[in-house]
Amino acid sequence: QGTARSIAVFGAGYIGLVTAACFAHLGHRVVVRDIQPERIRLLNAGDVPIYEPGLGDLLADNKERLSYTLDAAEAVHDAEVAYICVDTPPTASGDADLSRVWAVVEALKDADHLNAVVVKSTVPVGTGARIRAALDKAGLGHVGYASNPEFTAEGRAVTDFLHPDRIVIGTSDHATAALLAELHAGIDGPVQHMDVASAEMVKLASNALLATKITFINEIATLCEATGADVTRVADAVGMDHRLGRHFLNAGLGYGGSCFPKDSRALRAMASNTGYSFQLLNAVIEVNDLQPRRAVQRLKTELGTLAQRRVALLGMTFKPGTDDMREAPSTVLACRLLAEGALLTCWDPMARPADAAPWNAVERRPTVVEALAGADAAIVVTEWPQLHDVDWEQARSAMRNPLLFDGRNMFDPHALARAGYTCMSVGRATVRPRC
Ligand code: UDX
Repeated sequence: QGTARSIAVFGAGYIGLVTAACFAHLGHRVVVRDIQPERIRLLNAGDVPIYEPGLGDLLADNKERLSYTLDAAEAVHDAEVAYICVDTPPTASGDADLSRVWAVVEALKDADHLNAVVVKSTVPVGTGARIRAALDKAGLGHVGYASNPEFTAEGRAVTDFLHPDRIVIGTSDHATAALLAELHAGIDGPVQHMDVASAEMVKLASNALLATKITFINEIATLCEATGADVTRVADAVGMDHRLGRHFLNAGLGYGGSCFPKDSRALRAMASNTGYSFQLLNAVIEVNDLQPRRAVQRLKTELGTLAQRRVALLGMTFKPGTDDMREAPSTVLACRLLAEGALLTCWDPMARPADAAPWNAVERRPTVVEALAGADAAIVVTEWPQLHDVDWEQARSAMRNPLLFDGRNMFDPHALARAGYTCMSVGRATVRPRC
C-alpha cells in the first residue's frame, strides 16, 4: 500500500463518486465537490444519489475518510491532488461540452499548493495540453498535470475500478507519473504510462472500437436474417478466435448509454475538426441509429400495421443492472412505435420514472404479466434477468396475440414457440408455434 494522500474530487456523478469511494477504500482522504446542492445534501445525509452496486457500502465503510462540499476552495484547501470527474455532455454538433471542466480549472487557479491536477472526464484529445497552458498562465507551472481516463462500465463500476484491465496514466513529468501510480497502489491492474494526448485517445479509441464491434455483429445479424444463418452461433464461433474474442458480439437493438453514443460522436466531431472524416465511425453511428428503427419495421411487417396495436416494451434502461435511461434504444423504439399509432405499455424493474416524451404516452405497469395484458406484441428491449423467471406459457394468456420480439436474443426461440409464441429475434429466424 502507498502513502495516504488528500484528494479533491470534482463531480459527484457516476465517475466522481466511484473514484472517490475507491480512493477512500484504498486509504486516501477524499473531499468531493459538486455544484448541485441536493446531491451534496444527500451525500452528507448518508444517501447515494445514484444507483451503482457496491457504491453505497463503499461510501459508508469509508465515511471517516470522505466529505462532501459545494465549496471548491474548501475541497482543495488540504488537497494534494485535484481529480476532475465532471460530465462532458455532447453539444448539438457532437463536440464535447467542456464548460464544466473549464469551470473546475478556473476554480483551481489559486490552488498553488497542489501537486497535480488530473482529468478523468472524457475529453477530446488536446484538452490536456490546453489545460496545461491555462495552469501555466495562472502561475501553476509547478503543478503536475495528468490524464487518467476511466474504463468502468455502469453496474460494475466499483469492480472495474478496483480490478481494471489497465490503468492509463498520461503525463509528461515523472513526479506526477509516480504520484499517480502510488495513488493506485493496492489496485490489481497493470499501469500503462504514456503522454497526455495518447491517454486521452485511448479512452475514445476503446469506446469507439467496442461500439464498432457491436455494430459489426448487428450488421452480420441483418445478413443472417436474410440468409437463414443464426447470429448467436456465428458470434460464438467467431469469438473463439482469440484475436477477436466473444465479448461485445451480442447482436441486439443497438448500443445506448452515457458513453458509447456520446463518445463515438465526440470522436467523429474531433476527427472532423482536424479535417479528417472518420468514415468507419460515421457508418457505425448511422447503423446504430437505424437498429431500433429496423426492429419497428420488422414488427410492422409481421403485424401488417402498428396502428392501434398494443405493444409491451419489456425493459427501458440501456442495459440491465442500472436505472440509467440515457440514450436508451427503448426511447427510440417508443417514439417510432407511437409515430406508427401503436399503444404502448412498459415494464422495467429499475428505470427512474420518466414523465417527458415519449414516456408520458406509455403506460408503465408493475409486473411483466400486467405489461403484457391485452398486447398484440411484446419487445424484449433490455435483457433483465427477471425475464427468465416469467412463466411464459402462463403469461401467453394475458396477451391478445402471443408475439414476442426478443431484441436481445436472451431466449431460446424454440422454447418460446413451444410455449405458444411466435418468436422474432435479431439475426435469427422467426420461430412459430406448431399448430
Ligand atoms: C461503456 C464501456 O464498457 C466502459 O468501458 C466505458 O467506460 C463507458 O461505456 P457502459 O456504457 O456502462 O460502459 O455499458 P456497456 O456494458 O459497455 O454497454 C453499452 C451498450 O452496448 C449497452 O446498450 C449494451 O446493451 C450494448 N451492447 C453491449 C450490445 O448491444 N452488445 C454487446 O455485445 C455488448
